[in-house]
Amino acid sequence: MPAERTLHVADSTVIVFPDADAASRAAADRIARVVAEAVPARGKAVLGLATGATPEKVYDDLAARAKAGSLSFRHVVTYNLDEYYPIQPLDPLSYRYYMHRNLFSRVDLAPNRAHVLDGTVPEAAAAGHAAEFDRWIEADGGLDVQLLGIGRNGHIGFNEPSELSPAEFADLPTRMVDLHPVTKADAVREFGSPDAVIPRALTMGVRQILAARSIIMLATGPKKAPIVAQALKGPVTAAVPASLLRTVADKVVWLLDGPAAAELG
Ligand code: F6R
Repeated sequence: MPAERTLHVADSTVIVFPDADAASRAAADRIARVVAEAVPARGKAVLGLATGATPEKVYDDLAARAKAGSLSFRHVVTYNLDEYYPIQPLDPLSYRYYMHRNLFSRVDLAPNRAHVLDGTVPEAAAAGHAAEFDRWIEADGGLDVQLLGIGRNGHIGFNEPSELSPAEFADLPTRMVDLHPVTKADAVREFGSPDAVIPRALTMGVRQILAARSIIMLATGPKKAPIVAQALKGPVTAAVPASLLRTVADKVVWLLDGPAAAELG
């Protein structure tokens, strides 16, 4: 099996792994390292987490380390990127449920330290809840690491393609959003039919994502190849949200498998 290779695409560090398992293991390694460094230094580690198909193996790996006793979540605080709106936490399609299934129920993380935006807040209270989420992250000292996936339209969290200037886009707070048609089409996989897809969500803002002390972008599979190439090699534009990661390239690592890296040249 060939080893990983590191590319420098403009200012961005991109590591290409032999397969998705190896890329996921590398993401888990980096998260475990952040916990090992931040807890003794600051008394806690603050992790920004993603849902979706891509990070499932990362969570399996972290859960296996916790079970083996080599990683503890006792001093970890987590903030998830997004949640559908409205949705109940016990709905199997909610991201709260996803996190419970994939990570929270498998590790020693205190429930009151695991933050997922609340899909049950009344509509009139949603903006206040979103603003509070940003304040909680800031009160926790900011994110030590943010794990990201990338949508086929380049979204990060549910920060969808936009006509804002890059500077305006980079300043967006946590808020309610309408999902983009590509995101809704991809969500049919989970929801079963186009009519069943919940068209709105609460998402962590671009501002908070870009402020994380380190950022791991994990992308695997051939469907991500075109947008990965556009984000890394096209213009920095809010039309391709992940391209904004290049404005903070020194703290971002892109972990890819071969198929996702196929169009990087
Ligand atoms: C999920 C999230 C999204 C996903 C992206 C990729 O919390 O914020 O940005 O990371 O849609 O999803 P998958 O991994 O299912 O291809």
